[in-house]
Amino acid sequence: MSDDALVQKAAQILKGGGLVAIPTETVYGLAADATQGKAVARIFEAKGRPSFNPLIVHVGDRAWVSDFAQTDERFLRLADLFWPGPLTFVLTRRERCPISELVSAGLPSLALRMPAHPLAQKILNAAQRPLAAPSANRSGTVSPTDAAHVADSLGSAVDLIVDGGACTVGIESTVLDLTGPQAALLRPGSITREDIEAIIGPVISASDNPHAPKSPGQLAAHYAPSIPLRMNASEVRPGEALLGFGPSKGAVLNLSPAGDLKEAAAHLFGMMRKLDDPERFSGIAVAPIPVSGIGLAINDRLERAARGR
Ligand code: TXA
Ligand code: MG
Repeated sequence: MSDDALVQKAAQILKGGGLVAIPTETVYGLAADATQGKAVARIFEAKGRPSFNPLIVHVGDRAWVSDFAQTDERFLRLADLFWPGPLTFVLTRRERCPISELVSAGLPSLALRMPAHPLAQKILNAAQRPLAAPSANRSGTVSPTDAAHVADSLGSAVDLIVDGGACTVGIESTVLDLTGPQAALLRPGSITREDIEAIIGPVISASDNPHAPKSPGQLAAHYAPSIPLRMNASEVRPGEALLGFGPSKGAVLNLSPAGDLKEAAAHLFGMMRKLDDPERFSGIAVAPIPVSGIGLAINDRLERAARGR
């Protein structure tokens, strides 16, 4: 099937209330029409996702946002720079918002993102609907960064999987809460706190302020492989597979032999999946990853994975 035919097919399924796995630059998303409550309910069912955890709504154009949520100067300035791209805004819902309440899990806010992947943009614009899309994996497991991961994790629960190749960013979008006067980082990602602070000034984060808001989805255990994962490993224990970074000796796989954090982020989930092989390994030992820039987001995902299932 040509890309155009695939895009049209995806749009038809979505408008009919179906589920389509779509590629984005961060991870694959499990998409449904955000205005159809029944379709959104199918997302929660297919993922085994707790209903208190709200979903991100994907838009085809920045102009769609004002129909759904209240925007302000901070949003406009950041969206100017970072959209389309891996930055999600949590904004206050408008009173007559057409998006299903299920999407926000009853909260008065809405998370919104305009993805940069060309196929995601084409599908959004063909459907002309806002698309609710969490990562296309079973809740609590490692996020999918290629189409085969989606098929492994969700298989027949999805009506169509659109293969757009490997995700270039590889970790989920940065989530920024702008519902209050104080901007708050809810989930670190490839667009860093420093990137955001350069545009709108100070941003608070749960990692350094216990009063900062937290995302309902930041469950303690997440991204967990089926075998134990250990961070900041200085040595490899018997049976363990070493996931290296930089010049790691004896690594089974290496996130980035050159020590490049962007490359490491793009490889993270795929390599975690490959090493999650209980027949070959008793655990995964991960070499230290610097906690700067996008390294903060990588360490955030690893910490959750290390807490196990
Ligand atoms: O990169 C991404 O963001 C990917 C792709 C598919 O766009 N999506 C993704 O969705 O990671 P998900 O559902 O796995 O993560 C969404 C995060 C969760 O932590 C959720 O709790 C938070 O966003 N979230 C969604 N709506 C929210 C809201 N109204 N207030 C606070 N947090 C919200
Ligand atoms: Mg997820």
